[in-house]
This record gives sequence, structure tokens and C-alpha cells, in this order.
Amino acid sequence: MEVNLNKLSFICLHTSWWNIYPPQDIALEINKEEVYWNWEKYIKSNYEEHKKLWLYLHTPFCEAKCVFCSCWSEKILWWNTLNDYLSKIIEELNYFSPIFKWIKLNHAYFWWWTPSIYNEEQLELLLSSIRRLYDFNDFAQWNFEISPHTITENKVKILKKYWVSRITIWIQTMTPKSLKFNNRIQTWEKLEKTFDWIRENQIENINIDLMPWIPWENLKDFLFNLKRIISLKPNMIHLYPFRPTEETLFTKNWYKYNQIDIKNRDLMYELWVKLIEKNWYSWIENDSWGLNESAKNEQEVDKIVNNCSILWFWYPTRSYIHKNLMYFTWYDMYKTNNPIYMWIKLTNKDYVSRFLISHFRNWFNISEINKKFWIDFLELYKKEIVFLISNNIVNINNDFFTTKINNVYEKLVFSKIFYSKENIEILLKKFWYDDKIDYVNEFKNTLSIAYK
Ligand SMILES: C[S@@+](CC[C@H](N)C(=O)[O-])C[C@H]1O[C@@H](n2cnc3c(N)ncnc32)[C@H](O)[C@@H]1O
Ligand code: SF4
Repeated sequence: MEVNLNKLSFICLHTSWWNIYPPQDIALEINKEEVYWNWEKYIKSNYEEHKKLWLYLHTPFCEAKCVFCSCWSEKILWWNTLNDYLSKIIEELNYFSPIFKWIKLNHAYFWWWTPSIYNEEQLELLLSSIRRLYDFNDFAQWNFEISPHTITENKVKILKKYWVSRITIWIQTMTPKSLKFNNRIQTWEKLEKTFDWIRENQIENINIDLMPWIPWENLKDFLFNLKRIISLKPNMIHLYPFRPTEETLFTKNWYKYNQIDIKNRDLMYELWVKLIEKNWYSWIENDSWGLNESAKNEQEVDKIVNNCSILWFWYPTRSYIHKNLMYFTWYDMYKTNNPIYMWIKLTNKDYVSRFLISHFRNWFNISEINKKFWIDFLELYKKEIVFLISNNIVNINNDFFTTKINNVYEKLVFSKIFYSKENIEILLKKFWYDDKIDYVNEFKNTLSIAYK
């Protein structure tokens, strides 16, 4: 099949924004016993090959929907929602734990819609259940995400008790006007206290997320915020420029983001980068700007560098069994008793493509890839490589494959070149591709040109 950028842009518009292959839109239903059996098979056959496996726990609830947010999240519908959710998670943790009885997991990650939403009792129950049911390496990084307004000093103590070693504080903005517009509640006083609690409890690393040109923040506010945040010395800073995608309340409520906004956002991003680099932050490979190498998110690095297996709980998450399959769970906790499992079986080429897509931002050594996957990379991806080189997206020099992408559009769209022909066809059909529509432009309009 010829490379067709319009088709690839169409796929970018209709599949997840996260650059993960294969996309979950092509998954089919599987029963839980079969998932169990596949994990067992992996532990007996492929696990020893690289011994890379980490656990991820998802909390899909928010107290209110932030206007800028493009992520899927659930509303808490009744007082017992979190208890119900936790009891289901613990049921699943119990169900799968016998498979992993004899092995030590690498890391644990508690993420997404702010797991600090659990109260102290729930948090204790969740973390103690994991420690009781699963064993971890001594160097395992436990990564926990919090928001300043749901965290308390006691919760930080509980995190420390269960050896959480890296905390992400979701900040995004501290400008009062912007916080109000976006439905967020947080204060400098609480944020500074949160930094103190984490440091007093000797949790090693603090990461923060900020959002350039979040609605209702101007350059002056933004620089003021950044300087004050830098003075707190977080170990790592992530900058995610605001994208007004169709999932955001911003776009749903018909707010407009024009070319001037895009220009300002990108200017703001550039200024941030200069300011943080001036303050001793440097780029940490496979992560972001940090003060120390150990501040990086080890799970992400393991995913990119080692293609590690991932045991995810719960919905809507994706687990990955190395060299075998990918699956995710879906669950409507207010209507059904059990989650639905959906799976995608990986072919050998899918497995290599998955690795290439997660490396598409950087470079890799071709001989190492050949050795790792037992392939001839240049032969297997001949057509794709010719296209990428002729479009000046990739450079191959001696043994190095280096990407020259400049922006998010290029990253997302050109990485889709590695999708299999069959998967591209399924996606085009599923979302009603129409070749009279210019999807390249439609897609480009929502993106930032600022990207590292
Ligand atoms: C899953 S969200 C979790 C955010 C977190 N719960 C909070 O309260 O800030 C993870 C990251 O996605 C990014 N994100 C969410 N919506 C975005 C948007 N519209 N544009 C750019 N990045 C976005 C944010 O940077 C955020 O830190
Ligand atoms: S930004 Fe965080 S808290 Fe706000 S809606 Fe998105 S996931 Fe929920």
C-alpha cells in the first residue's frame, strides 16, 4: 500500500492522541480466563528474556471537569463510588496475583485523574493490598500523582509508608483567573505546603506538569508562576502546551483558539524552556527537563527502551504482554458487575513497529534493533524508510536512524507509517474515511509547532 498522508492524518484524528501502537480501536473481546492464561504463558516462556514488568493502577475519577482537559474521566455519582471502585480493583489484584508469585515487579505507577482523590483509609487499603499481593525489586520506583487540593499531610505520610519514591503534582496553572475559568481550586499556600510535606517525608523526587497558554493566562502571569515554581525546585518539569482538541469543554463550549493564540503559546513555550534551562534544568533523555537523572519516570523509560510488559489495573487501561498481546479493560461500574476485556494479538512485525513508534521521537542504532528483534530493519521497512527519507523526516547515517521531526503533527502522523496495512484498513473503514476531505489541514489546525 502506498503511503498516503491524508489517510494517516485521518487516523490521527480518530485514534487516541497517545502515540501507542496498536490503537485500541481495533481490539476484540476476550474473556478474563484467557488473559490469565496468556500472562501465565509469558511468565513461563518470555519473562526471563528481559525481566521487565511493571504495575499500573488507574483512577478514572475527578471532582469536576477542567475546561482545558482533553482526557476521558468519570464523574463520582454517589458517596460510595470510590469504595466500590476500590473493592473491584482489589478483586482483580487478587485474581491475577498468583501468576506473579515468584517474580519481582520493576515499578508501580498510580496515575491519571489524580489518585490523591482517595481518602486516607482508602489509600492505605489500596497500597497495602498491592504490597501484600505483589513483590517488587528493591530499586522499584513507585510513582504517585497528586493534585494540590486533594492531598493532605497524612496522605503524604501514607505514600511514604508504602515507599512511594516519586510524586507528580498536577499544577497546570496558578493564575487565579485561569483556575476559575478552568474549574480548578488550588492555592500557592497549599502548593508550597505540599512541597514541604513531600520533602519532610523524604520522598526523593517531585515532578510537576504545567500548561503553556492554558486559557485565561497571559505571558506576565505565566512568567510569574514559573519563576515562583522554579524557586520551589521541583526535580522535574513537564510542559504540555494547551491543545484545544474536540474532547475539551473549551471546544465543546465554542471557545475559540486562533492563530494568535497558537503563536503566543509557542512563544510562551520557548520562553519557558529558556528560563528553566537558565535555572540549571537540563533535558533528561526519554523524559523532560530535570535537575537530576534519577528524577525521570523509570516506567516510561522502561517502556521506551525495553518494550517492557505492563500489568494495568483498571479501566480504561492497556496492558501489554511482551511478544504476545495487548489488552484493555472497559467497565461501566454503575451498570455491570464485571469489566469487559478487549484484546489485540500482536504479529512479529507489530511488535517491532510498536517499539519503533515509541522511539520515533529520538534515534536508535540499527544493528541493535536487528539483534534485538532478529530482523533486517532496512529490508523489513524499506518502503517506509524511503518515504521518510525523501520527506526529510528521517536521516540514516552509518548505523543510526535519527528522526528530524519538528512538531507534534510530524511526530503523530509520520509514526503512523509503521501501522500495518491491515490495521490501517480497519481504521479507515471503522471511522468512515472520505478521500474528498483534506484531513491533513484539519489535523494540523489543532496542533502546536512547539515541541521537543
Ligand atoms: C491525564 S492528564 C491528568 C491531569 C491531572 N488530573 C490534573 O488535574 O492536572 C495528564 C496530562 O495531560 C495533559 N493534557 C490534558 N489535556 C490537555 C490539553 N487539552 N492539551 C494539552 N495537554 C493536555 C496535561 O498536561 C496533563 O498534565
Ligand atoms: S485535568 Fe485532571 S482533574 Fe481536571 S478533568 Fe482532567 S483529569 Fe480531571
